[in-house]
Amino acid sequence: MAGASGVLGGLAARELRARGAVVALAGRSTDRLAGLTTELGGAPARGFDAYDLDGCASLAAWAGQELGGLDGVLVTVGVAGFGRAEEVPDAVAEHLFAVNVLCPAAVLRGAVARVADGGFLAAVTGAVVDRPMLNMADYAAAKAALSCWLGVLGREGRVRRLRVFDFRLPHLETGFADRSVVGLPPALPRGGDPADAVHTMVDQLQGAAPAARHGEGP
Ligand SMILES: NC(=O)c1ccc[n+]([C@@H]2O[C@H](COP(=O)([O-])OP(=O)(O)OC[C@H]3O[C@@H](n4cnc5c(N)ncnc54)[C@H](OP(=O)(O)O)[C@@H]3O)[C@@H](O)[C@H]2O)c1
Repeated sequence: MAGASGVLGGLAARELRARGAVVALAGRSTDRLAGLTTELGGAPARGFDAYDLDGCASLAAWAGQELGGLDGVLVTVGVAGFGRAEEVPDAVAEHLFAVNVLCPAAVLRGAVARVADGGFLAAVTGAVVDRPMLNMADYAAAKAALSCWLGVLGREGRVRRLRVFDFRLPHLETGFADRSVVGLPPALPRGGDPADAVHTMVDQLQGAAPAARHGEGP
């Protein structure tokens, strides 16, 4: 579980644990990870940063060793950025792509060979993939790039029955937009309940609900 220090990642870790899964936690904020580890009865935890792609790619090997195998990997890392396309500095655009595309792809790339056949590889993209909004060109483009990458991963993984998930979640009340790296979020209607969204996501990981899966088409 990469991104366990965040709101959705923390909820997903708790939900998976509550359903009997044994979970390894990875995240940036070591304080929040430590709290979650305690709450989940001593789950193994490891810090990482999106800019250390080797570190991202090594997470699955670490988790597999800690847990004695891996049934799946879920990545909930991400950061928002807002502003008209011409106003977003290049360094910020680079940051948005590093955190929203390169990091999740590195985590999952490192997991492909380590997840059991029939296991899952999953990441959260967002509804912006289908409906990019004004003032978030780089954030939406980064999520669309990750979605495209997951689509190819799903097709490549069919031979091993790997289940690849691209969770295109709608706006949720996690405070995510208020933690943007640049700019202010547009006026948004009240978001959905994060716990409900995570519950549905975990249902899909467990194969208990119709899924937003890649790998079933040509
Ligand atoms: N909330 C929504 O409305 C919504 C809607 C659609 C999609 N999403 C996606 O859902 C995912 C989780 O969002 P959330 O709502 O749970 O927000 P969040 O609490 O801010 O979670 C973001 C996660 O990304 C991590 N992160 C950010 N920058 C990082 C970096 N440089 N290196 C390593 N980790 C980094 C954060 O780590 P720290 O907390 O430790 O800094 C945190 O674990 C994101 O990918 C977001 O794009 C959210």
